[in-house]
Amino acid sequence: MASYLVTGGAGFIGSHLTEELVRRGHQVRVVDSLITGKRRNLDHVLGVEFIEGDLADLPVCERAVQGVDYVLHQAAIPSVPRSVNDPLASNRANVDASLNILVAARDAGVKRLVYAGSSSAYGNTPTLPKHEEMPTNPLSPYALQKLVAEQYCQMFTRLYGFETVTTRYFNVFGPRQDPGSPYSGVISLFSTAILEGRRPTIYGDGEQTRDFTFVANVVDGVLRACEAPAAAGEVINVATGGRISLNDLLKTMNTIVGTNIEPIYAEARVGDVKDSQADISRAKTLLGYTTIVPLEAGLETTIAWCRAESASVSGR
Ligand code: UD1
Repeated sequence: MASYLVTGGAGFIGSHLTEELVRRGHQVRVVDSLITGKRRNLDHVLGVEFIEGDLADLPVCERAVQGVDYVLHQAAIPSVPRSVNDPLASNRANVDASLNILVAARDAGVKRLVYAGSSSAYGNTPTLPKHEEMPTNPLSPYALQKLVAEQYCQMFTRLYGFETVTTRYFNVFGPRQDPGSPYSGVISLFSTAILEGRRPTIYGDGEQTRDFTFVANVVDGVLRACEAPAAAGEVINVATGGRISLNDLLKTMNTIVGTNIEPIYAEARVGDVKDSQADISRAKTLLGYTTIVPLEAGLETTIAWCRAESASVSGR
């Protein structure tokens, strides 16, 4: 049994990591500001120590890291358009807080910190798939902030010998991804729209592509990254290696639900990346990672969850 701190553990990805760690018998502490996370995401997970606090305050980080072996740093304000609209708030959450947790974890003798990086760091690359040796080209404050924090991680490994690993996520989706804001991930927005019989919005012509990754794959990749000896100091894509356009995504989701809902097209978002697809060979080599849940199976699970969720909300 080891002890873990999951920052952002009441959020979408963080709550899945927390759930799996508890299932494996580990001791888990969660720290979350509840700005985007929700206590109810952890209601079904027993025995978790919860600290409510903002990691941009160093004392919160110092308290949170006491006695832990591993830190899974998932806390962030995760949205490209939100960062375009409010770069200061997202910088505080994505950069200041990350530096604080690195300093606190290093000083507390934590064995390793695994950081939730983002595929947005690549920007538009001339070729696909995107591999970790490609130059980065952030197109939004969010992308830049995610890149700065991952570079801090690598620097902490080089400068101080503090082990860090960055797992670069590619458009993660699944149950508990909040559909309640215009900044929400596109799959959660499409799911709720289709189930409610509303037309979802597609920004741009819908021909942009993404490597949508079901959350169970990410949980597996991150937990492997905690322990794989050769991963220290590395940046590693965690994704499926595939890609689908938004137009085709909507068709697939319509087929799963048995509907034929047409989108409304709106102007493309500023800061949006055109195509995103991961090369996952480094994850395979260093982590023994492989995709365990493909896109379609993940969509079915997610849509079933959204359906149950809306039934429970309307029954309350
Ligand atoms: C980006 C990152 C991703 C990161 C996420 C955090 C890239 C390639 N990916 O995701 O790694 O985790 O930020 O927020 O940069 N869209 C619609 N209709 C909607 C909502 C979105 O058409 O209602 C479009 C967007 O314009 C975009 C695509 O769907 O082209 C995906 O959007 P979203 O789910 O917000 O994620 P990214 O910005 O791609």
